[in-house]
Amino acid sequence: MNAVKIKDDVFWVGVNDYQTTLFESMWPIDQEGVSYNAYVINDEKVAVIDAVKSIETDEYIEKIKSIIGDKKVDYLILNHMEPDHSSGITELLANYPDMKIVGNKKTFPIMKNFYNIDQNLVEIVDGETLSLGKHTLQFFMTPMVHWPESMVTYDITDKILFSMDIFGSFKAPVGSIFDDENDLADFENPIRRYFACIVGKVAGQALKALEKLGDLEIGTICPAHGLIWRTNPGYVLDMYVKMSSKETVPGVVIAYGSMYGCTQKSAETLAIALKNEGVKEVKLFDVSKTDISFIISDIWKYKGLLMGAPAYYGKIFPKMANLLYKLTEIRVDNHKVGFFTDFSWSGGAEKNFNTFIEEAKVDVISDIVKVKGTPNEEDVLALNALAKKMAEELVN
Ligand code: FEO
Repeated sequence: MNAVKIKDDVFWVGVNDYQTTLFESMWPIDQEGVSYNAYVINDEKVAVIDAVKSIETDEYIEKIKSIIGDKKVDYLILNHMEPDHSSGITELLANYPDMKIVGNKKTFPIMKNFYNIDQNLVEIVDGETLSLGKHTLQFFMTPMVHWPESMVTYDITDKILFSMDIFGSFKAPVGSIFDDENDLADFENPIRRYFACIVGKVAGQALKALEKLGDLEIGTICPAHGLIWRTNPGYVLDMYVKMSSKETVPGVVIAYGSMYGCTQKSAETLAIALKNEGVKEVKLFDVSKTDISFIISDIWKYKGLLMGAPAYYGKIFPKMANLLYKLTEIRVDNHKVGFFTDFSWSGGAEKNFNTFIEEAKVDVISDIVKVKGTPNEEDVLALNALAKKMAEELVN
């Protein structure tokens, strides 16, 4: 894709990444890719907002040059130092060695550590402005969304918010970067999966950031990943407020691990029982087959969560332990949660579930249902009771 005009002097110069298989070496993006958005404001002074991941810097710099020709870049504004938005800086500096780098006091130590760059720095503070000529930019600190140095840049002139990770998404837009030229339903899950996995732990800070930016008149949102919201910024704003507030909808995620099908039978019994109880949205995930990022994304959406796992050498099935680790980090403390286990010898998974309950401070709806091997009649009754309790909790 070539550079794309957003407003008269404002252009997208980002790149799509279809090479990386795991974002942050954890989250699968091999199916749909991810975009690293960056922007140029071609004013009396030229500002580039954000760099890109260093794998695609040639394309990024070609796009910048296609806009500004022989002019130089006066400012690089680094909203966020995570290397998916900053590692292209070395190549950009090689092309524009006199370029000033705009950041805050927390930006520059990280830049020095990562890239050994510490010259031509312009340190700004919360609320400070920078004039490019026609455009005046204003900077707002949004700490911990997603890193301590994170900030956003607001173009007062054109009412554009360059929001770095906030409002970002997995899934590289294909053919067009604009919200009004894409089916937004295609982006709902990638936006939520990105939020839950990357920002979920700091949802409270994300909400504070949204409140802080609430007084700005925002015409266009230009995030560092995903679509540019020029027609319907309210769509992603509304999604972000709901996700940051941990607002859920009625429905249940059943996440289970199963080596030989016994725990799977319990999970399926629960799914059937939930349907019989009138729960329309029930999502069943085998933690061995679905990456936890997709499971976490649906957990973030639905109020109910049932987790089941067999014992494994006296502890919990390891792939479920991985999910519990992440859920403890992001705190699903607004959910109704239940558990079921399976063992043949002396138990195991319930110990890990109990530790999870204590550490994650989840709202448990019932005792753990403990099954030995294939669920028998009594077990099925206990699982049905768990499903009934969950259905009741969803409407309370
Ligand atoms: Fe897209 Fe926190 O980096």
